[in-house]
Amino acid sequence: MSTADLIGRGLDRVDGPLKVTGRARYSAEFPAKQISYAVAVGSEIASGKIRSLNTSEAEKAPGVIAVITHKNCPPMAQGKSFELGGALADLRMPLSDANIYHAGQYVAVVIAESLECARHAATLLKFTYIEEDPIVDFSDKKAQHIDNAKFMGQPLGKSRGSVEPALAAASVKVDNVYRTPTVNHNPMETHATTSVWDSGKLTVYDATQNLYGSRGTLAQIFSLPTENVRVVCKFIGGAFGCKGAMWPHVVLCAMAAKAVNRPVKLVLTRPQMFTNVGHRAETEQRVAIGADQNGAIQAIIHEGTSHTSMNGDFVEPFTKTTPMFYTSPNLRVGQSVVRLNKQLPTFMRAPGETPGMFALESAMDELAYALDMDPVALRMKNYATEDPDNGHPFSSKGLAQCYKVGCAKIGWDKRNKQPGTRRDGDWLYGMGMASATYPTMHFNAVCDGILNGDGTFVFKSSTHEMGTGTCTVMAQIGAARLGVPADAVVFELGDTDYPMAPVSGGSATVSTVGSAVDGAALEIQNILAKKLADSATSPFSGLPQGEIEVKDGRFTALSRPDTLSYVEALKALDLASLAVKFQTKFNDHAKKVSMHSFGAHFIEVKVDQDLGIVHVTRSVGVFANGRIINEKTCRSQIQGGIVMGIGMALEEAAIMDKRTGRMVNGNLGEYHVPVNADVPDIEVHFIPEEDTVINSIGAKGVGEIGITGVAAAVANAVYNATGKRIRHLPITADKLFV
Ligand code: MOS
Repeated sequence: MSTADLIGRGLDRVDGPLKVTGRARYSAEFPAKQISYAVAVGSEIASGKIRSLNTSEAEKAPGVIAVITHKNCPPMAQGKSFELGGALADLRMPLSDANIYHAGQYVAVVIAESLECARHAATLLKFTYIEEDPIVDFSDKKAQHIDNAKFMGQPLGKSRGSVEPALAAASVKVDNVYRTPTVNHNPMETHATTSVWDSGKLTVYDATQNLYGSRGTLAQIFSLPTENVRVVCKFIGGAFGCKGAMWPHVVLCAMAAKAVNRPVKLVLTRPQMFTNVGHRAETEQRVAIGADQNGAIQAIIHEGTSHTSMNGDFVEPFTKTTPMFYTSPNLRVGQSVVRLNKQLPTFMRAPGETPGMFALESAMDELAYALDMDPVALRMKNYATEDPDNGHPFSSKGLAQCYKVGCAKIGWDKRNKQPGTRRDGDWLYGMGMASATYPTMHFNAVCDGILNGDGTFVFKSSTHEMGTGTCTVMAQIGAARLGVPADAVVFELGDTDYPMAPVSGGSATVSTVGSAVDGAALEIQNILAKKLADSATSPFSGLPQGEIEVKDGRFTALSRPDTLSYVEALKALDLASLAVKFQTKFNDHAKKVSMHSFGAHFIEVKVDQDLGIVHVTRSVGVFANGRIINEKTCRSQIQGGIVMGIGMALEEAAIMDKRTGRMVNGNLGEYHVPVNADVPDIEVHFIPEEDTVINSIGAKGVGEIGITGVAAAVANAVYNATGKRIRHLPITADKLFV
């Protein structure tokens, strides 16, 4: 089977049977002898100090092993932050003092013989607080604002040309403020962690996207040599960024297990998902665009604010993409952050692009109406054929085709330009579109490759299966390179005993680890070919390097009639098996190219004119994502992103009681995420795209791009249906009445 046959094919997930039969073991399910159960207890106030606490009743409760608060927490060393190559989301070590910075911040951990005992004892804890008024509003006069925000150490502020005069002189302009609320992470699997100490060594079974990062940081915190910490995570029930950095419960659990000298399991509750593992920060974004009468953009301003916590820095980088997107000669972008009594925000599926493209692509729709121009034509008028931010060529950019195919598939020519003119009974219909984009990234990874004597292959790297299909796709990449059937290859992941892989984030797992698998497969071929040439007795003895090739899984040489399978090659060399190690060596800074995925969403909605109900009735997404490795898992990723985008557009918002700083809807009953009834059939198309620059496998990554632009396409469709421009997500009925 050749590469051409295998790459792109929608192979079923290799772990599908394990998952549907319940045999896939998730982080909460690892057994350990003498295991005990922890419950983490959160603060009832959002700002202030613990005045007093009384644990005596809880300690006396049945089954209780220990109660740990800031009063008796054993000392721990400071861990390193995610931004500096560690894993900690929030630098404040849990239970380090009596100060309270957000509601739900851990103030105690109760360890007991059973979960029920721990939960019961937790209700017996008595805390009193010195409460201060929480700062939870951008507009609060006491709130600290910080200008010139950075994302992962990179300044977000940029400018080119002379934007104010260009905007002032533009014949047509739009200048509006867009708002997106705090939205929460709700993967099906809540965070879960189990810590087992054995002879000074720590093993942690943890739901994480960042095995090596967690290992290094736990080693720091507990002053252990790195090799004495092992982190295991075989399956993740969804992550989307909340399991990328390490949250305090992981530290609490390992600390508790050490303190009670028994394995401890700690599983967060669903409400704790709303207060303890990050969220997408609220944003307030001004977008001003000025164009000439033909629609050529002369000026873009995109600036605004998001929040961070009182003592941590995370900036939702919503302006990150704007300088790259349209060919405006004049531009200014920049962000500030405001400190609030909320937990630290974090990465959430396409951090930055997701709220940023909502604002930018809504503004483009408004500009199209102001110009009386078709929204697709306006985008093509300002289409960047090289990166306007740095002048570099794009490694590939299939966006124009995405627009074209999207228009054809949805029937864009049937869209009524005039809002509010397509009606069926009480329902008003409309169509909207928006662009999607996400950068193509790679980090570096190491992969072990093993050829067994029976002709099967095993590749191992310490990456993650978040539900994305990593095991399946990696086996596919390895098999394609080797020229063997996919089921001859097994890919193993999820354990720091395997070679280093980076955080599974930035949609970079396929590009990074896939390149490492590809490299390891090639290494197996090269080493065997060299050994065959060097061996006095092999049929290829003495052939110059490069003459031996692997075709359809057999070693061949033009000058010789014999061909050898992998098994025959091992036999000819008198080898039982062969093991190799391959490390990727990406250095993207050296490349003067701009690497991004692109796409376009075309969405139809119907809006009940009396009730303000919005339904997405059609969704067509077209993507230029480099080479698609597995059509089925790629499609699933994109569809999932679009579902999440529909949630963002129409439903999701974390609501805070501003008097107390506590969550009002911190549960899945009242925090709405899309259900089947909210989601239409989602059509996804991929534009064939050969990109030879990005990496050896030509894949750009699909985890995040799907959500980008969805909310704008929905808002633009709602405008087209109703004539009402909603600039503040989510688009709920109350906003359509006013
Ligand atoms: Mo993603 S937000 O980089 O896990």
